[in-house]
Amino acid sequence: MLLKVLGTAAGGGVPQWNCACPECSGARAHPRRRRRHASLAVRAAEGRWYVVNATPDIADQIESCPELHPGPEPRRTPLAGVILTDAELDHTLGIARLREADRLELLTTGAVRDAVLGRQHLGELLSPYTDLTWCELPTSGRPEPLDADSTVHISAVPLSGKRPRYAVAVPAGPGDDGHWVSALRLTDRATGRTAVYAPALGTWPDALQHAVADADCVILDGTFWDDDEPRRTGISARTATAMGHLPVDGPDGTARRLASLPARCLYTHLNNTNPLVDPTAPQHKVLTRMGLEVAADGMEITL
Ligand code: MLT
Ligand code: MN
Ligand code: ZN
Repeated sequence: MLLKVLGTAAGGGVPQWNCACPECSGARAHPRRRRRHASLAVRAAEGRWYVVNATPDIADQIESCPELHPGPEPRRTPLAGVILTDAELDHTLGIARLREADRLELLTTGAVRDAVLGRQHLGELLSPYTDLTWCELPTSGRPEPLDADSTVHISAVPLSGKRPRYAVAVPAGPGDDGHWVSALRLTDRATGRTAVYAPALGTWPDALQHAVADADCVILDGTFWDDDEPRRTGISARTATAMGHLPVDGPDGTARRLASLPARCLYTHLNNTNPLVDPTAPQHKVLTRMGLEVAADGMEITL
């Protein structure tokens, strides 16, 4: 299995356009610290790739990843579809950027489908431009091949019913299965190796523990270093957990849980307030001592 990390930042990116915090200013001064919105490319088969989450950076992310470049015919793209872990704007606005596609297949849950393809989001807006089709992600009990010829099998691990802010008051649609946020479990049947991708994680359900227990690689929500970070930095009145993101550090942090796993574990979806966006921050040593990593834009992971 081949994975390419297309971006590792939470909503806003690093730097965020309207922010002069130390981390955003640091990324302006040191362009190598810049991070695009969190996204992952998964190779289904030779020349066929899926992108997990369509971010506002998707066109630049495609350009920076040669495997995703079109060709040899002028309008042939290796991008077979977009998998959505949730309906947040930082994971779905890029669908509008892909409107030049003849058709675009989205793999996700019923709740996310209703939000993205419904009236309140992109469905009506994009219908004159492209044909958005939808395919339901199988759940962890019955993984399915990503693509007809693919040895990579995929399943969704439902994590929570946390809705994006724009959908908080929208009545449940006919397809709403309550699965607003999922982790993905990807297994290559040719190698037997498994990756779990969970860029939005507000709770740690038993199903997730089960999904990561025998995984070879786990790429997880690293939005905030500690639970108080959003309040301390003034970006929110809520804690990290209340915002739907378990912190990395602390008694209920994800680092302790990840450190006990045999998998290679990397953090992604870093908010621009997270000290980890500064490569000189002491928090990196804490993670290194625990055997954990921070994912980098452009990273290639072969399993
Ligand atoms: C999140 O990850 O919690 C959301 O993307 C926040 C947002 O609305 O940008
Ligand atoms: Mn986000
Ligand atoms: Zn900032």
